[in-house]
Amino acid sequence: AAVKKYQFDIQVKNVSRLCHAKPIVTVNGMYPGPTIYAREGDRVMVKVTNHAQYKMSIHWHGLKQYRNGWADGPAYITQCPIQTGNSYTYDFNVTGQRGTLWWHAHISWLRATVYGAIVIMPIEGTPYPFPQPHMEANLILGEWWNADVETLLKQGDQKGLPPNISDAHTINGKPGPLFTCSEKNTYALEVEQGKTYLLRIINAALNDELFFGIAGHSMTVVEIDAVYVKPFTTKSILIAPGQTTNVLVRANQTPNRYFMATRTFMDVPIPVDNKTATAIFQYKGVPNTIIPSLPQLPSPNDTSFALSYNRKLRSLNTPQFPAKVPLKVDRKLFFTIGLGVNPCPTCVNGTRFTASLNNITFVMPKTALLQAHYFNMSGVFRTDFPDKPPTSFNYTGAPLTANLRTVQSTMPRISKIAFNSTVELVLQDTNLLSVESHPFHLHGYNFFVVGTGVGNFDPIKDAAKFNLVDPPERNTVGVPTGGWTAIRFRADNPGVWFMHCHLELHTGWGLKIAFMVEDGPGPEYSVLPPPKDLPHC
Ligand code: C2O
Repeated sequence: AAVKKYQFDIQVKNVSRLCHAKPIVTVNGMYPGPTIYAREGDRVMVKVTNHAQYKMSIHWHGLKQYRNGWADGPAYITQCPIQTGNSYTYDFNVTGQRGTLWWHAHISWLRATVYGAIVIMPIEGTPYPFPQPHMEANLILGEWWNADVETLLKQGDQKGLPPNISDAHTINGKPGPLFTCSEKNTYALEVEQGKTYLLRIINAALNDELFFGIAGHSMTVVEIDAVYVKPFTTKSILIAPGQTTNVLVRANQTPNRYFMATRTFMDVPIPVDNKTATAIFQYKGVPNTIIPSLPQLPSPNDTSFALSYNRKLRSLNTPQFPAKVPLKVDRKLFFTIGLGVNPCPTCVNGTRFTASLNNITFVMPKTALLQAHYFNMSGVFRTDFPDKPPTSFNYTGAPLTANLRTVQSTMPRISKIAFNSTVELVLQDTNLLSVESHPFHLHGYNFFVVGTGVGNFDPIKDAAKFNLVDPPERNTVGVPTGGWTAIRFRADNPGVWFMHCHLELHTGWGLKIAFMVEDGPGPEYSVLPPPKDLPHC
């Protein structure tokens, strides 16, 4: 195993898209930021030095950080932010994982421009469990705002209105020629006829679940969230913010230029966002003057595509890569996802949007929870987050518009979990204000998605149909609009771990919680001591 060292300089740089130049926060002046390459078993050390006027923190999305939450990154959960002029080294081992993950800023909305890919190669001499590709490429899907994102966020906070939807979608930071002024800002992947390519696709968008496809070509899905799946072929993929998907594509069509394209999946009638970002799948030798054709993507509200696509995802589950699904459950949790409105004297309508789990809107602490936990500080958090909602109701029936007020306490309420216990969590969407799809991400773990469905979860009938054989294993899962998703995991990683909706808008509204997984028996099963350079609040 090797030690891979990186230097990340957080710098503001002028970047222009859609004919708008604006200063954006970057790593080393790059947008998207640099790719982290490692091999399974390596140690990675990333020294982050903050030269910008914003507080910074970086999360290594999907890395398990065993006993080592200090390197996880969500601001005020596992660490205090890195102040201007200061540095912090994220020091972690890449153990038992291989595939595509990514990193991003984990404070306010800075991840709009501060993100990049993480590519973990299998242990030397271990081939992929699928045909060796001729070449690999990263495709990071994102969003671009012409306005300053932090300003938009602040205005939203003060006025209680949601910030504007983005002005463009992007592929590797570029919107492509369907956007005004973007001819030059188009990513192109050159391919050779007859060869196979591995595309590592990452959804780094703030607020949009996305479809992606390549005109004239099918894709074979081989991995999601750095876990191999049973390969299947599809014309389009669905990818939620936080998720990654690896596909194989064979350049088996007439040499030409083909569009790769991405646009929103949104099956509720809120601001229709029809923009399509494109990049080019460019056969070698074809002149640049040819106008490519577009792939046929599912329509933005295609719920049935989404449900059937997600049903195709199955763990590879071979002796080499077994799906270790917990069969017996020690702790059952049932969390309702709700949107709401709370009073807000400074806001335009006197109210602001909120979001909640079990009707509790998470409040951010002033000290990092992991520090408070490790040093036994009192008065920072409570461990009384309820295992189920205060009342049961018809969660997905007619829209509920009365009693939209959520509970907001003065300190964060988190859920305490016994070390090595097996946890089943059902996330139930509700029609409080409106049903909507929510991609939930758990830090510090992968989990098995044992079931998902529309309507209200039935603990007898639905549980009887759980897939306990080869369910997909991932770190971010979509809870369908007006439906539910059940996940299982073994709580073998002690520490404080964030879980939240990866739609940044909803995270900001309070759609989040932290789990405090207790230390195990003996120091080798306990949280490691914090590094010396850990930032202070
Ligand atoms: Cu990718 Cu808590 O985030």
